[in-house]
Amino acid sequence: MPDESLIPETTVTLRVNGTTTQVTCDVRTTLLDLLRERLRLTGTKKGCNRGECGACTVHLDGRRVNACMVLAASAEGGEVTTVEGLARDGELHPVQQAFIEADAFQCGFCTPGQIMSALGCIREGHTGSNDEIREWMSGNICRCSAYPQIAAAVEAAAGKER
Ligand code: FES
Ligand code: FES
Repeated sequence: MPDESLIPETTVTLRVNGTTTQVTCDVRTTLLDLLRERLRLTGTKKGCNRGECGACTVHLDGRRVNACMVLAASAEGGEVTTVEGLARDGELHPVQQAFIEADAFQCGFCTPGQIMSALGCIREGHTGSNDEIREWMSGNICRCSAYPQIAAAVEAAAGKER
């Protein structure tokens, strides 16, 4: 067990959901832990904490990433969007709305990550077919196995996102 007092700290400046924020943290802090534990943005979920489930998907500089696999310090100066940053003026984002309309969740644990990944999938142009959607959403695991409804939600939301 390392002596915690010897672990250096760093100060990270990020723009999160449109607000510039500065956090001083242990250099080992992941972007996921910084979001959840320091900024209290608990919409982003911690599932495996090792890059396998996609529950922690957020956007960093416009690209979807697994926040558990990104050191907060390496995101310095970055633009982060979490699920909390999607709704505008009390209105759900079209992808969020599509998930509700398609009944694309059961327990909901994977849903924030699915929605952030769905938005990435749509913006990347990977919605040409159901198979293509499934392929490009395959990094997001759903233990409730809502995959048919998730793919339907992505298909429905394609072209409506902003
Ligand atoms: S918690 Fe990050 S991929 Fe599972
Ligand atoms: S809805 Fe339960 S894990 Fe996906």
